[in-house]
Amino acid sequence: MPKLVVANWKLNPGTEREAVRLARATDARKAVLCPPFPFMGAVRRAVKHAALGGQDAFWKERGPFTGESSASMLRSLGARYVILGHSERRMHLGETDGMIAKKVRAALSAGLRVILCVGEPKEIRRKGLIAAKRFVADQLKKDLSGFYNLKPKTSHLVIAYEPIWAVGTGVPDRPEDSARMAAFIKSFLKSKTYYLEPKVLYGGSVNGRNAAGFFGQRDIDGALVGGASLKPNEFRRILAAARP
Ligand code: PGA
Repeated sequence: MPKLVVANWKLNPGTEREAVRLARATDARKAVLCPPFPFMGAVRRAVKHAALGGQDAFWKERGPFTGESSASMLRSLGARYVILGHSERRMHLGETDGMIAKKVRAALSAGLRVILCVGEPKEIRRKGLIAAKRFVADQLKKDLSGFYNLKPKTSHLVIAYEPIWAVGTGVPDRPEDSARMAAFIKSFLKSKTYYLEPKVLYGGSVNGRNAAGFFGQRDIDGALVGGASLKPNEFRRILAAARP
């Protein structure tokens, strides 16, 4: 299976012109580019190969919700994917599992592919991988509540395993440990629905040097890349490592 490489630009770059330059420099068939909302249209026009994704989407389609963007609005801008439940939104914006579950259902109903982020904090991981698995299972249970009733297709759910302590720190997880977690996530979801076998990505300080180590793991189907997605050379190295 080809690996999927998702670029999470977060709150970067500063201008539309820079966004277009970055999009052109990182345009590739197996890439999903997730720019900030204001740059979405310009990035769509700039790329020939990459798919487009949003970094969030609200659970209502329209109405008095100042500052929000809906999944159907993202679709109308050409997005195929949306990142939901990122740890930075959970941390800085108080996103709860209940809110994330509503967003997951709304995005799926609007026809977007959901990239759901889960991952444990350092104090849990310190207790060991079993404690981390328990934490992630609890997040999956809550974030996907009501989701199975929508009879999702396997291709419409992607899980990004991002241990919080590895995000933006320069300290990635060990590929073998994240592969164990990815295998666990797959078997957990399979136990909920006999057919759902989503891709599981690893995210957290992936760069051009360490990407191959993650992609070499059978259960890791790609990467969610933050910082390195803003550096075209680095991102291209990750894409090169993702070649099957
Ligand atoms: P990072 O971010 O690659 O900068 O660690 C990953 C993410 O937040 O998705």
